[in-house]
Amino acid sequence: MIRTVETTPFADQKPGTSGLRKKVRHFQQPNYIQNFVQATFDSLGAHDGATLVLGGDGRYYNREVIQIVLRMAAANGFGRVLVGQGGILSTPAASNVIRQYGAFGGLILSASHNPGGPDEDFGIKYNIGNGGPAPEAITEAIYARSQVIDRYLTVDADDIDLDTVEETVIGGMTVQVIDPVADYAALMERLFDFDAIRALIASGFRLSFDAMSAVTGPYATEILGRRLGAGEGAILNGVPLPDFGGHHPDPNLVHAKALYDALMAPDAPDFGAASDGDGDRNLIIGRGIFITPSDSLAMLAANAHLAPGYAGGLKGIARSMPTSGAADRVAEALGIALYETPTGWKFFGTLLDAGLATICGEESAGTGSDHVREKDGLWAVLLWLNILAVRRQSVADIATEHWAKYGRNYYARHDYEGVDSAAADALMAALRGKLTELPGSTVNGLKIVSADDFAYIDPVDGSTSQKQGIRIGFDGGSRIVYRLSGTGTSGATLRVYLERYEPATGDLTQDTPVALADLIAAAAQIAGIAAHTGRNAPDVVT
Ligand code: G6P
Ligand code: ZN
Repeated sequence: MIRTVETTPFADQKPGTSGLRKKVRHFQQPNYIQNFVQATFDSLGAHDGATLVLGGDGRYYNREVIQIVLRMAAANGFGRVLVGQGGILSTPAASNVIRQYGAFGGLILSASHNPGGPDEDFGIKYNIGNGGPAPEAITEAIYARSQVIDRYLTVDADDIDLDTVEETVIGGMTVQVIDPVADYAALMERLFDFDAIRALIASGFRLSFDAMSAVTGPYATEILGRRLGAGEGAILNGVPLPDFGGHHPDPNLVHAKALYDALMAPDAPDFGAASDGDGDRNLIIGRGIFITPSDSLAMLAANAHLAPGYAGGLKGIARSMPTSGAADRVAEALGIALYETPTGWKFFGTLLDAGLATICGEESAGTGSDHVREKDGLWAVLLWLNILAVRRQSVADIATEHWAKYGRNYYARHDYEGVDSAAADALMAALRGKLTELPGSTVNGLKIVSADDFAYIDPVDGSTSQKQGIRIGFDGGSRIVYRLSGTGTSGATLRVYLERYEPATGDLTQDTPVALADLIAAAAQIAGIAAHTGRNAPDVVT
């Protein structure tokens, strides 16, 4: 039954920060998906009879790819595939299913927060048995294999019905269509005090969750709407659409502007939140106040013990390097370790597995814990709700008290999108060339005290990662970080991360652009952003 199909390599199948991401039309080239999936299966070691988890964020091309992967999984010796009904599994739910059923690994079909549709993005990534993104050793092996691949294996079988929860067999392999929400919702009920949150909502607390026409719709409808009693009216854009309704499913202040505006209005709800295409990112807004992801990590860590799942305290906190140092101060106060990792959730996996960290977060709107091995948008929303239900204070009051205790890390990220790749590389190369001469110099009145290119040695497995971002440190603790995005699909995106620490005794109520104005000007000057890119202002500020 197994059919061997000849193929030739594609040069560009190197997974980025989070799997392989390209335009849909690029993925639709004959054998493009097949090559990458076969290269993945070939890199996994013995998996005969093993269980694979499969699902995606419902974007355009999701269903077609699921059918291709099912046939290939059967031909490659998997014994069973668990696939989300309708081809749907949010990234954190997929991580949970892998762990809960002891699967060998999983394939998640998503380009996360990138737009969907025939002319937009698609993506595929492999997660390992701990439920987390494949570490670099595996993604490198997949890439190496993709460069020499000469055949893929498939079986001849009809498409399976993805919409009915049932078991089918193709090519001797069992396909089990599972409810994508049930196991995840049960996990959330174990971690959080649903009674307390229900009582909060019943007392008149109003929340608004924007699923951005992406994968969290069914999860939010069941958990927030039904189990917690917020009702369907609390869920905006709750039906997943293949093109996300033509929107960009990225929960930031640009793409979730309607939600932001609603939370700033006089009759605003108490709490607003959103999640991205595949459900792993989160946006948190209180009435009249946006909480930056870096602050959210710090505030969640400081209050996590209020939720049953974390009542025993945290083992440690981990954050990506460009994420602000707000969480560091919480870790210090709690007397627990703080780990600084390169950008990419995969770097948290070893720390979580080794029990070194409990909560992790990134400036890119990702927060999560050791309950799965992915960041988790709804988890962050539920932890916030649990904290609000216990403290019975507004989000703004919680933030104000937090800053009054720990000080405030004013923070912003400036993105220059669609920059010519060569120009972006030249900018980074020029910065690298100046690292030794920068310390001691003064730019725009700010004295530089350190400059380096972040390198990381994983404290658990000793693996190293070089060139993870240029860090410029200033007298007084301010910081600029320059990095090129690893998740784009066209051109380069330059990210400039700006941070200024204001101690608890300082001015904690400034507008962020004002607080960062000096640093913003210095950042443009140090890197010669206009000269290299022709841009005088960022495209997106988050
Ligand atoms: C994905 C990863 C994150 C990472 C983010 C930003 O969402 O899962 O871990 O922080 O991409 O990556 P980028 O390379 O675009 O800054
Ligand atoms: Zn995502």
